Amino acid sequence: MRLTQTADLWWKSAVVYCLDIETFFDTNGDGVGDIRGLGQRIDHLAELGVTCLWLMPFYPTPDRDDGYDITDFYGVDPRLGTHGDIVELIRLAADRGMRVIADLVVNHTSDQHPWFQSARSSRESPYRDWYVWRDTPPEDGPEGVVFPDQEDSLWQFDEQAGQYYLHRFYKHQPDLNVANPEVREEISRVMGFWLELGMSGFRVDAVPFLLETAGATDASDLPDPHDYLRDLRAMLARRNGQAVLLGEVNLPYPETQKFFGDEDGDELTMCFDFIGMQQLYLSLARSEPGPLIKALRERPKAAEEGQWGTFIRNHDELTLDKLTDDERQEVFKAFGPEEHMQLYGRGLRRRLPPMFGNDQARLRMVYSLLFSMPGTPVLFYGEEIGMGENLAVEGRNAVRTPMQWTEGFNGGFSVADPADLTVPMVDGEFGPDNVNVAAQRRDPDSLMSWIRLLIQEYRACPELSWGDCTVLEHDAPAVFAHKSDFEGCTVVAVHNFSDQPAEFTLAVAGAGPGLRLIDLLKVGEAEVADDGTTRLELEPYGARWLRLLRPGDRYVI
Ligand code: BGC
Repeated sequence: MRLTQTADLWWKSAVVYCLDIETFFDTNGDGVGDIRGLGQRIDHLAELGVTCLWLMPFYPTPDRDDGYDITDFYGVDPRLGTHGDIVELIRLAADRGMRVIADLVVNHTSDQHPWFQSARSSRESPYRDWYVWRDTPPEDGPEGVVFPDQEDSLWQFDEQAGQYYLHRFYKHQPDLNVANPEVREEISRVMGFWLELGMSGFRVDAVPFLLETAGATDASDLPDPHDYLRDLRAMLARRNGQAVLLGEVNLPYPETQKFFGDEDGDELTMCFDFIGMQQLYLSLARSEPGPLIKALRERPKAAEEGQWGTFIRNHDELTLDKLTDDERQEVFKAFGPEEHMQLYGRGLRRRLPPMFGNDQARLRMVYSLLFSMPGTPVLFYGEEIGMGENLAVEGRNAVRTPMQWTEGFNGGFSVADPADLTVPMVDGEFGPDNVNVAAQRRDPDSLMSWIRLLIQEYRACPELSWGDCTVLEHDAPAVFAHKSDFEGCTVVAVHNFSDQPAEFTLAVAGAGPGLRLIDLLKVGEAEVADDGTTRLELEPYGARWLRLLRPGDRYVI
């Protein structure tokens, strides 16, 4: 085993956990989670097996887009804590073997940012060209608008500036002009600052929009967007060779692949697999793995030192934008038939457990898939205990409710008046009385214990994170079977997408006597015939991971 390399390229076998400090744990009773609160709860994450925290934006903000509208890229939102608290948190995380990455949201600023305030005040402002202005905006329609329920154009006329400015997202989020070298320099400074404080890299928001150079006035100084990304990565590597860029790129595979850079992978270290995620939901809706298999076959290989980031849910709407209209309707029908469960006509504002009617076997199967499929799994807080959403909360915040630590008052999140919480708790079946960390922590049959086991085995199986994945053929249409090979070692995983039991034969190795298949998620073993096949049975929504032992192999724990 290439231990040096596997440890150096830590992101290839990481367990990333995304959380919003604001809704994680409140220590001072003001209803807002804080950095110290996260510190106090960090052992929950360490016990789970998380190796990297992705902190959603914690910067000063008017909070009109849950912190993605920033007024100071170098600051810390005083409601959450101080720079000192951030440094302590990073140290605490390191002590538990965890790295911390920050959300880097530099496609735009808040319109309250002093740069924009200055820019709009005069054409002579040194910050004028930090944004993208036009006297007459190009014709546009709703197509490129990200939040179609609130915006109908990418351009907004600013009275004070006397010009239109570009905003990919809400109109209170003017786009920065990366065609301006000063802006590029400043973005590097921001990255350098947080790296210096100990961050291990960034989740980069809205990468394709960030790289847009619509602000260039002279086509000759147009930087090639990929050159720019390459520069950012090189700068990162100079400052901290272990730091990563985990990019939000929701594009078809061939286009996303370009963001890894050339074969050396000199741009983004990791890209989220939005396509695989969407095809997984289609597979779940159809109770058969066909679409997922197709996606895995089409998914380009990440660069040698890169990795795909796989996920079941993130903090935004669960986007289904890359499915066809009919496919999207299939998923809506299965998992979010009512209009108020859907968002922007393209996604769902639900978490998985309510979509599944809290079917625990089905949930466990999906998380077993997440940790056994090729890619680095990224969890969204609360997934480990099966939290639900609060549909009474507007928009994407339905899935950004406070973490549920205990039963009872505010789920142990805060002692504040419930009216003071930034997002109200979930109530009912998925509320804290039924779903919480305290109850699941010591229950060996809980979802949380299952996820802890999956993480433990995923971390112990470099085949899964480093290996070559092959989809295995067999005759049970509802079953997804794959194996991952790495340096002569093999792990086989099988997952049943249907509510019916399944039985099938798999060819797991070439013919030869003495092969064994050892269970990794329970005590057990499957028989392997001398022709290298095994006959397996799965319960409804069953899942099984097995390590192949060849004669003479040392038993692996
Ligand atoms: C984030 C969103 C955010 C948007 C604007 C994204 O793509 O994931 O949560 O609203 O960028 O910053």
